[in-house]
Amino acid sequence: DASDIEKGTYPHYMLKEIDEQPFVIRRIIQKYQDDNGELAIDKAIINEVLNADRLYIVACGTSYHAGLVGKQLIESWAKIPVEVHIASEFSYNMPLLSEKPLFIFISQSGETADSRAVLVQTNKLGHKAITITNVPGSTLSREANYTLLLHAGPEIAVASTKAYTAQIAVLAILAAAAAKAKGFELDFDLTKELAIVANVMEMLCDAKEEMENIASDYLTLTRNCFFIGRAVDYYVCLEGALKLKEISYIQAEGFAGGELKHGTIALIEDGTPVIALATQEHVNLSIRGNVKEVVARGANPCVISMRGLEGDGDRFIIPAVHPDLTPLVSVVPLQLIAYYAALHRGCDVDKPRNLAKSVTVE
Ligand code: G6P
Repeated sequence: DASDIEKGTYPHYMLKEIDEQPFVIRRIIQKYQDDNGELAIDKAIINEVLNADRLYIVACGTSYHAGLVGKQLIESWAKIPVEVHIASEFSYNMPLLSEKPLFIFISQSGETADSRAVLVQTNKLGHKAITITNVPGSTLSREANYTLLLHAGPEIAVASTKAYTAQIAVLAILAAAAAKAKGFELDFDLTKELAIVANVMEMLCDAKEEMENIASDYLTLTRNCFFIGRAVDYYVCLEGALKLKEISYIQAEGFAGGELKHGTIALIEDGTPVIALATQEHVNLSIRGNVKEVVARGANPCVISMRGLEGDGDRFIIPAVHPDLTPLVSVVPLQLIAYYAALHRGCDVDKPRNLAKSVTVE
């Protein structure tokens, strides 16, 4: 649809694509509903998942970060062990595979050379593969046995946003379908929870002014920025840091809260911005302990928490969603913060230097 790739009134594709996320989640719910209105995955794919003793997710960049969240969902809901690998490492340093591996390639474009190199190898070894992609008919889709589409519409900005949340949503549907097929009843309705996610995403997209203020307060002059989180928040921190560095050129890194003291805390100086995510109840006290540690060394903390877990001085509170689905919403403020930081610094938001939307060379 041509109107999909028009910027319309938006100054940048990235901002448009961030705003499209609630719509994309709703479209994914529709596209993955079966005749009974239940979220479902093709039977043949589910059979492959049930036959496997281990899933291997292979991807690059933002898609790799979505894979980390997917691992968490599949392991906790369907109780199937999952490994997540960076494609460029996997192809030269293949781990010892289990007896019945099943591969899941995650690629927005479906054209990434590093991921394809692994698919060529796993096809040669005779292993089955599923590609999760936004582009029907793409190379990785054609060369894998099965495809799950993201239905996110064309993503034009180099910095991936709606593809990331679409990837996590599709992985959640896959995880839930596998759990159901294995006889594990989830104690919530995923359709309903994803609908709540879409509504919360909408509220977050309406919080642009707050996000722009965070970018002004923390990122105008800084040369670096750290993102800390624990459990699934850690994975979102990796993605938040990637967004910020790729478009604003601020050196940004995501760290597991507990790992800080083993080295990174040495980098904290007076005024260093530290963005902390706190959406997980079981690690809420620990991540807040980590915030205190960096504040004691002079850091300028920006805590983004989820409603119900908020603490004094938190900079922004995200309305509550299902605790396993928080990455779908907690990433949105980080995308917007990165966007405004890049904008304020006069960077080319949609076409950052040295980067390509799809990397078709090794
Ligand atoms: C490029 C893009 C990234 C993307 C990565 C993987 O480096 O700039 O935004 O995450 O490729 O792309 P894929 O299409 O395989 O998801």
